[in-house]
Amino acid sequence: MLIRPRRLRKSSVLREMVAETRLSKDMFIYPYFVVPGKNIVHGIDAMPGVSHFSADTLLKDVEKSMKLGLNKVLLFGVGEEKTEDASSSFDKNSVVANAVRELKSAFGEDLYVITDVCTCAYTTHGHCGILHQDYVQNDPTVQILSKMALSHAQAGADMVAPSDMMDGRILGIREKLDQNGMENTAIMSYSIKFASAYYGPFREAADSAPGKGDRKAYQMDFRNPRETMRESVLDEHEGADILMVKPALAYLDVIHRLRESTNLPVACYNVSGEYSMVKAAGAKGWIDEQKVIMENMYAFSRAGANIIITYHAREILEKGWMD
Ligand code: PBG
Ligand code: ZN
Repeated sequence: MLIRPRRLRKSSVLREMVAETRLSKDMFIYPYFVVPGKNIVHGIDAMPGVSHFSADTLLKDVEKSMKLGLNKVLLFGVGEEKTEDASSSFDKNSVVANAVRELKSAFGEDLYVITDVCTCAYTTHGHCGILHQDYVQNDPTVQILSKMALSHAQAGADMVAPSDMMDGRILGIREKLDQNGMENTAIMSYSIKFASAYYGPFREAADSAPGKGDRKAYQMDFRNPRETMRESVLDEHEGADILMVKPALAYLDVIHRLRESTNLPVACYNVSGEYSMVKAAGAKGWIDEQKVIMENMYAFSRAGANIIITYHAREILEKGWMD
């Protein structure tokens, strides 16, 4: 007798029944870029469909997202004053802190607000920390990050997401939050963040490219899967609530490995370059954009991601691609 796996692929109803991987809108986190000012909606060239918003227009756009079922946002601050020590990053009236306050007062518990915690958009040199003799200083940077995280938490952020890759920052932030009565603010760690060329469009969006040098002395070397496990174990022990792999598409093996090795939720970040490549090829008519986007989303889920941070989320729900 011939074994016929095709029998279970015969009709759409049957394929839906035996599908091993499913997606849900609850898995999505949608990123937003917030700028100072009023009445601003400014498209980002290299990321079609993604814009800079001022706090007022952000509120309206988030309301639209929420109607589609997107109730988790990740905020990035752009356009603040840049200094050597990133002091604008932890100002209690920073663009992010203000946006968080407005979002939480408008939507309360219905909206889960996560903030990116890193200094690169707030430093003159564009590095993810305090620079001394061309080297990013680890422990002084952790102090700044802790203050930044606290300012977001005090503004009402539900979760902070450090993306800097300093050693010990999860512990530093956790302690700072706890000492200030913010023990319920969660931490999603960009645990496994590679030094990647896929962040290119984001650096335009966040105006955060390093002026000189690269990020290889803090972000991870993409040749080192064993080292990823070391980083994630440390973050877990330091108190991270969620671990993240970033970028996502070129690192499905790492997502899979992490899912097998931790009991924490695993998130992946489908980054700007991954997004822009799909949008560009789609616009040219070289690929079927909708199909490629959904294939990518299933790939993240199949690899083991429980949470997907993606610029595609809004369009997927708007156009009903998961219905
Ligand atoms: C800043 C930060 C970056 C991203 C998220 N936070 C860029 C970088 O590290 O250079 C990338 C996001 C994306 O590409 O979509 N630390
Ligand atoms: Zn950074």
